[in-house]
Amino acid sequence: MAQEVRGVIAPGKDEPVRIETVVVPDPGPGEAVVRVQACGVCHTDLHYKQGGINDDFPFLLGHEAAGVVESVGDDVTDVAPGDFVILNWRAVCGNCRACLRGRPWYCFDTHNARQKMTLTDGTELSPALGIGAFAEKTLVAAGQCTKVDPAVAPEAAGLLGCGVMAGIGAAINTGNVGRGDSVAVIGCGGVGDAAIAGSRLAGAAKIIAVDIDDRKLETARSMGATHTVNSRTADPVEAIRDLTGGFGADVVIEAVGRPETYRQAFYARDLAGTVVLVGVPTPDMKIELPLLDVFGRGGSLKSSWYGDCLPSRDFPMLIDLHLQGRLDLGAFVTETIALDEVEKAFERMHRGDVLRSVVVL
Ligand code: APR
Ligand code: ZN
Ligand code: ZN
Repeated sequence: MAQEVRGVIAPGKDEPVRIETVVVPDPGPGEAVVRVQACGVCHTDLHYKQGGINDDFPFLLGHEAAGVVESVGDDVTDVAPGDFVILNWRAVCGNCRACLRGRPWYCFDTHNARQKMTLTDGTELSPALGIGAFAEKTLVAAGQCTKVDPAVAPEAAGLLGCGVMAGIGAAINTGNVGRGDSVAVIGCGGVGDAAIAGSRLAGAAKIIAVDIDDRKLETARSMGATHTVNSRTADPVEAIRDLTGGFGADVVIEAVGRPETYRQAFYARDLAGTVVLVGVPTPDMKIELPLLDVFGRGGSLKSSWYGDCLPSRDFPMLIDLHLQGRLDLGAFVTETIALDEVEKAFERMHRGDVLRSVVVL
C-alpha cells in the first residue's frame, strides 16, 4: 500500500517551498522506503528551487539525509528493514565503463528508484539528486542506502550524504592529502570546513584557511586550520606562499566555485602541487590562465565530484572515526529545524549565517 507523508516541495521557479502530502509507493525490485530522521539543507536544494538545475518542477527537496529502512523490494539483500542508513546519490551501477575499470566513484550510471513519488493528484515529483528527503519517508534505490553504525546522531550522520563528504573527499580522495602536507582551503563554508577536517584527519602539517568572513575563519580554526587568511584584507596567494616558506601549498582546495578563487588556488600551490576544485561554478563563469603557467607549474588540476567518494567504503569508515572522537561531524550542525522551516533556512544559508541547518523529523 502506498503511504501518504509530509514533504517539502518546490512548486515552481523561485516560488517559496511549501509542505504538501507526498504519496510514497511501496518499494519495488531494487528499491527501499526509508523513514527519514534528519536531512541537511544544502545549496543544491536552493539551486533546484531557483530552477538552476533543471525545469522538472515540482521538486521534492532534500538530499543530505539519514534514517531507518522501513521496507525493501523483494530482491533487495544489501539492506533490511530496521537498518540505520545514510542516503547517497552515488548508487554505483557496476556495469558502466568507470565501474568496469575499477573506478566506481566515477560511475556514470548511478541508480535511483524506478517508481515515482507523487502528489495526491498524481503529479509526479522530481526528488532532489534522486533522494527527496525533506519528507517523513522517501523511496530510493536500495543502493542509495549505506548502512552505518546506529550509535551516531542522525543529524550529524546525514551530512555525510552530500556536502561534508564532498569536502572531506576533496582532501583525502581527490587531493590525496597525506601526512606532513601543507594544505590551503579557499572558502570555509560547510564544504571547505569539511576539507579542513579531512586534511587534519589525513595528517596535514599545515592547514591554511582562506575566507572573506572572519566568522567563517574562526570556525575553520576549530575544525583544524592552523592558520587563517582573510582574503578581503590580504592577498591570499602571497599569504599562503609566506606561510609555506615562499613556495605555496602542496594541495589547494577551492571550495567556493568562482573564477577569482580558482585563480588564487592555481597560483597559491607549490610547483607540481595539486589544485582541487570542489566548489561548483555556474555556466556563465570563465577562467583565463597563461598556458605557459599551466605547463610550467606542473602538478595536477583536478575536480572533485562528491569528494570522489564511494559511499560503501567511505561512510562507515568516517562514522567510525566520528564515534572514536577523531572527526567531529556534530560541529557542522549549526541548528536543527522543523520541516516547515526550510524556506527560512535558505535565507540564513544565503546570508552565510550557518554551516548547516538540519531538518529533524
Ligand atoms: N574568497 C574566499 N571565500 C569566499 C569568497 C571569496 N571570494 N566568496 C565566498 N567565500 C566563502 C563564504 O564566505 C563562505 O564561507 O565561501 C564559503 C562558501 O560557503 P557556503 O556558502 O556555506 O557553501 P558550502 O556549502 O561550503 O559549498 C561551497 O561547494 O558544493 C559546492 O555548491 C557548493 O559551490 C558551493 C561550494
Ligand atoms: Zn557504473
Ligand atoms: Zn548537497
